[in-house]
Amino acid sequence: MFTKFCFATLMLGGTAMAAQIPSSPVTFNKDVLPILQKNCQGCHRPGQIAPMSLLSYKEARPWAKAMKTAVATRKMPPWFADPQYGHFTNDRSLKQSDIDTIVKWVDGGALEGNAKDAPAPIEWPPEGWVIRPDIIVQGPTFEVPAHPKNDVVEWMWVTIPTGFTKDTWVTAIQIRPEHTAVTHHMCIAFKPHTPDAKYFEPLWAPKERDDEGAAIPTAGPTFGGRTNFLAGSNGLEDCYLPGMIADDYSIHRAAKLIPTGWDMMINLHYTPNGKGVTDHVQVGFTLAKEPPERRYVSLLTSATQDPSRFRIPPNESNWQSPPAEATFNVDAELVFMMPHMHVRGKDMTYTLEYPDGRKQVILNVPHYDFNWQLGYDTSIKVPKGTKLHVDAHYDNSPNNKFNPNPNRTVYYGEMTWEEMMSGFFGVVVDRNVNPNKIISSRNPVGSGG
Ligand code: HEC
Repeated sequence: MFTKFCFATLMLGGTAMAAQIPSSPVTFNKDVLPILQKNCQGCHRPGQIAPMSLLSYKEARPWAKAMKTAVATRKMPPWFADPQYGHFTNDRSLKQSDIDTIVKWVDGGALEGNAKDAPAPIEWPPEGWVIRPDIIVQGPTFEVPAHPKNDVVEWMWVTIPTGFTKDTWVTAIQIRPEHTAVTHHMCIAFKPHTPDAKYFEPLWAPKERDDEGAAIPTAGPTFGGRTNFLAGSNGLEDCYLPGMIADDYSIHRAAKLIPTGWDMMINLHYTPNGKGVTDHVQVGFTLAKEPPERRYVSLLTSATQDPSRFRIPPNESNWQSPPAEATFNVDAELVFMMPHMHVRGKDMTYTLEYPDGRKQVILNVPHYDFNWQLGYDTSIKVPKGTKLHVDAHYDNSPNNKFNPNPNRTVYYGEMTWEEMMSGFFGVVVDRNVNPNKIISSRNPVGSGG
């Protein structure tokens, strides 16, 4: 009897405990959609770079298994910063609890759940935009030839009028190509209008190239007779790259100045993929309501392009590039970093060396992936006299699955099968600081090459 009683009590106890744990299933509306809104929909919605939309249950359901794999392996969302270093305000990587939720949702049958549990949909900007532009400047239209993949369309620069009739402080910029599939990158710069500027006429710097499309080193290409096309500008102001769609300065409580009478120059790099298309570029701006206290300035430091020093030997799996270095001439707040290399790029590290000798790694990307040009937003006070070092390694061995040819020596160049080593960064300074005087750089960057 006694035994039986005990058994019954245990049973009861068991049932009672189970009742206390809410056993409601993980559903799309209640649990998964909030995660997708915050971490995925920025790319996974119509008109953005991801191949499918994850806005609704209907759209997401067929991808449930793929989502589980993508988040469990941390392939998605793409994020490459080593969490040991720095703090990034745009860190989209998922918390372990979010990953667990998605995994449980899929394992539990990927249920939709109750519509009234769903958060309100996010009001995304109109298709193709990630900002809500106050002004859209119409850029060039270019016929991208139906050449096979990896055929060379050389970089070009096109000058266009901004149409701005007064000094204009802008709080965000988005360069918007129409056909992202053939767009390698686009960057813009501004400089004072000169009478010889020919609007909407592409300027090329034709290069001699070998069988594999690598440029044969020469005295330096010229764009319409100018070796340094950016002379007179404040450097590259914004770029479109896969993963780097728009620049928003308002999040840093700052804006960028486009002086009246300055033209916009767009640097276009198309990569044909077999399908001919007509690409039309637009550049959107949001405007500051009033002149800001703080000015945002885009900067860039690069390793030397000298072919006797920037020279990656064949089959070398961990070649260390000469560093890129810059010294701050003024107090600044460093707010943005974006490593840029090509297909052999392996890792990149940004380190600050303060005037008191202290060194601090502020960004480490240990597994660089050329297919993702991501920017990292941060906030670091940088006193005058601080040095920024950028270090990078390259993998020119057959183990690098993106390596088109491990048996060749690779030099600095513009095509993806040549290499680059650029540490882009953004700073915020007092609005009266001259943007060209913020850093001294050992290897000043010329034509954006
Ligand atoms: C920065 C943009 C971006 C963000 C943020 C992002 N994705 Fe993606 N995603 C892409 C792109 C581009 C692809 C296609 C290229 C690829 O697979 O690498 C993709 C592919 C995928 C795939 C297909 C993977 C495969 O192996 O074929 C899944 C599933 C996916 N994403 C899920 C997610 C989920 C879930 C999130 C959020 C937790 C997310 N993504 C966040 C851009 C993004």
